[in-house]
Amino acid sequence: MKIILMGPPGSGKGTQASHIAGIVGVDSVSSGDLFRDNLSKNTELGLLAKSFMEKGEYVPDDVTIDMVMNWIEEPKHSAGFVIDGFPRTLKQAKALDEKLLESGGVDRVVFFDVPEEDLVRRLSGRLICSSCQTPFHKMFSPPKEENCCDNCGDVLYQREDDRPDVVRNRLHVYTRETEPVVDYFEKVGNLRRIDASLAINKVRESLEEVVR
Ligand code: AP5
Ligand code: MG
Repeated sequence: MKIILMGPPGSGKGTQASHIAGIVGVDSVSSGDLFRDNLSKNTELGLLAKSFMEKGEYVPDDVTIDMVMNWIEEPKHSAGFVIDGFPRTLKQAKALDEKLLESGGVDRVVFFDVPEEDLVRRLSGRLICSSCQTPFHKMFSPPKEENCCDNCGDVLYQREDDRPDVVRNRLHVYTRETEPVVDYFEKVGNLRRIDASLAINKVRESLEEVVR
């Protein structure tokens, strides 16, 4: 089962990815998390990505495609996966289609539909784990212990690109670059929309339903 989670910044992709991957019995990955992992290790790719991410711009297609393809090519991902945040441009979508041509293509693309005012509220209150990158929210999904990850116990922090000026640009870039990709998958016919403005457990139920 090969599943893609799409949606604007803050729509809840990262909150649902590992849960649905666990149900399906595959691994999940977020392209944003891969870039942040690289940055925390000070790799060349991480430093390059930072210069785009801090402005809310997309990282260039060639390096993004190479990074995600390397993950997909790992033998343990050959049976399936959940990808959050890739593809986000038409070039990325076509590269993925080409890659999966022989293995039957993507099975399901799930689009997380959330109004813009909710996105801004979610991003301004988000905290993420400095180790495992699990997202929390000060009001909507607080950790059990203040500033401490429920999953691995490490410290939580606020993402640099969740500042209001960067969020505005991320939303703008999303509309310009990624809405055409949503239309592309809609035409292919494997895209399903879910109402991701609902509470986290309701979104989880809708996601399970469309994946089933
Ligand atoms: P990335 O890290 O993927 O950021 P994003 O797409 O902007 O998405 P977010 O992670 O901000 O949101 P999310 O949908 O995961 O929401 P979350 O679950 O955390 O990418 C960062 C950057 O990397 C990009 O800007 C770009 O520079 C680069 N990049 C990444 N992929 C790329 C690509 N393919 N091509 C080029 N560049 C790329 O939830 C948000 C908050 O809301 C949390 O606090 C959460 O607790 C809360 N929440 C979640 N669900 C609910 C709910 N149902 N109700 C209430 N609160 C909720
Ligand atoms: Mg995310």
